[in-house]
Amino acid sequence: MTTPKSKANVGMTLIILFVITLATGIILHLKKHDILIEPPPVIKMVHWIAGFLMVGVACLHSIQFKRMFSAMKTKFRWFRIDTWVVIVFVAITFITGLVKLLSPVKIPNLGLHHYWFGIIMSVAVIVHLFRGIPSWNRLRKIK
Ligand code: HEM
Ligand code: HEM
Repeated sequence: MTTPKSKANVGMTLIILFVITLATGIILHLKKHDILIEPPPVIKMVHWIAGFLMVGVACLHSIQFKRMFSAMKTKFRWFRIDTWVVIVFVAITFITGLVKLLSPVKIPNLGLHHYWFGIIMSVAVIVHLFRGIPSWNRLRKIK
């Protein structure tokens, strides 16, 4: 489960799910600017399936890197701080998305808040990848 290969595979899956979630999230938001890309119900479904899978795979990824993350307490401070931003905003985005999906009544502005939490999360994930991608490239070459 924690071989370099499996870490690299989980990492690549995570990047793909992240790109799908972000792209569909932005497409859904464009509706607020009167740009409607059809068909919204399908895009919504792709969005939340990719989003929930991403959260699940991110939990697996965190377990794989838990020890390394703790060992970084004194070194690589920017990476640790940024990764904490990722953890907090993945959680908030996930919760607001879940409430939006399950709430029987429409909560005003929840979609917009969810979108902005998603944007903050995405910026932090992209910063995380400045270290993540070189690390992924190393892991995939280890036999
Ligand atoms: C959607 C969110 C995330 C994405 C897309 C992501 C992506 C990646 C990728 C592609 C790598 C390279 C290693 C690999 O392929 O497995 C990596 C490394 C790493 N990630 Fe993440 N990650 C995310 C969230 C997290 C979270 C929540 C943690 C918290 C523990 C974390 C901690 C780490 C650590 C410690 C490394 C190792 C860095 C190194 O080798 O120097 N990541 N991440
Ligand atoms: C943590 C990962 C995410 C999960 C689990 C998630 C989940 C969801 C869910 C369940 C919905 C409701 C769909 C419906 O009403 O049928 C939704 C809507 C939406 N999401 Fe996400 N999402 C995530 C990340 C993102 C990101 C990164 C963005 C963009 C930056 C985003 C933007 C949106 C937008 C714009 C909507 C439509 C809101 C509206 O209809 O007012 N989401 N999301």
